[in-house]
Amino acid sequence: MGLTFRKLHPLFAAEVSAIDLRHVADRATLDEIRAGMDEYAVLVFRDQPFADDEQLQFATRFDGNLHTKTGASVLSKSRFGNEALTDISNLDEGGGLLKTDDRRRMYGLGNRLWHTDASFQDPPGRYSMLSAKVVPPVAADTEFADLRAAYDGLEAATRETLEGLHAHHSIAYSRQVLGFEFSPQELEQLKGAVHPLVRSNPRSGRRSLYLASHASRIIDWPVPEGRLLLRELMDHAILPQFVYRHSWRVGDLVIWDNLATMHRGRSFDDAKYRRELRRVTTLDIAASPA
Ligand code: OGA
Ligand code: MN
Repeated sequence: MGLTFRKLHPLFAAEVSAIDLRHVADRATLDEIRAGMDEYAVLVFRDQPFADDEQLQFATRFDGNLHTKTGASVLSKSRFGNEALTDISNLDEGGGLLKTDDRRRMYGLGNRLWHTDASFQDPPGRYSMLSAKVVPPVAADTEFADLRAAYDGLEAATRETLEGLHAHHSIAYSRQVLGFEFSPQELEQLKGAVHPLVRSNPRSGRRSLYLASHASRIIDWPVPEGRLLLRELMDHAILPQFVYRHSWRVGDLVIWDNLATMHRGRSFDDAKYRRELRRVTTLDIAASPA
């Protein structure tokens, strides 16, 4: 189809030339998008008027299996009746703004910590696709950090230390850091998952740190020592030179690679302005659809 990619940052992230993803079904174009993901790790598609089912169908065509075991589903049922469609909004089931002390709002505030999606599951999330429906008139941006460039920028001795290490990721941990409280039944369902601290892209071989605020400890290390290492790596990975900031327009679809990037939502006055986006995340299962 001959897509072109316009770089948005010196290291990663690109805006893709005009295309209507609702109608993209041929493998050649889907492969071109995947190649773009391998290179840029964050792709911005403008003017994508997805209905919910069209967004779900595109994600399935592009990458196969959808993530449904969200942390939020443990707290309350999706207002869309489909756990594959994650509600990234500050709205309640009636479409009104969530009250400041609403538990769903408190939980959602965790998205303002640097993270990767579904790293607390096994398999974790691979591609996240976030579609913007309503954006505030003030900045309510999302930032992305390039974890491949962050890996490359480590000292050689640190890279050696990381060889073979694994971290435990838990969404309960990242929320508890913010003071959010879970019931024992909820905690039982949010046990988390263990993943390597360094991962490589299966096609390019490019290595990246695999980090998130969900990472609570390094397996087989004393907890404080592991937390210190994780904190040092996080501080390094979010240095300004590794970060791209996306200002949303209605109709944007942004796809990011959760193995190559971290992201966070920036704060805005969510008691005043509506912000409504929907996310579909695919699972990092080795075989891609044919
Ligand atoms: C997400 C997420 C941040 C934001 O959709 O996974 O973390 O800015 N979003 O809404
Ligand atoms: Mn997220």
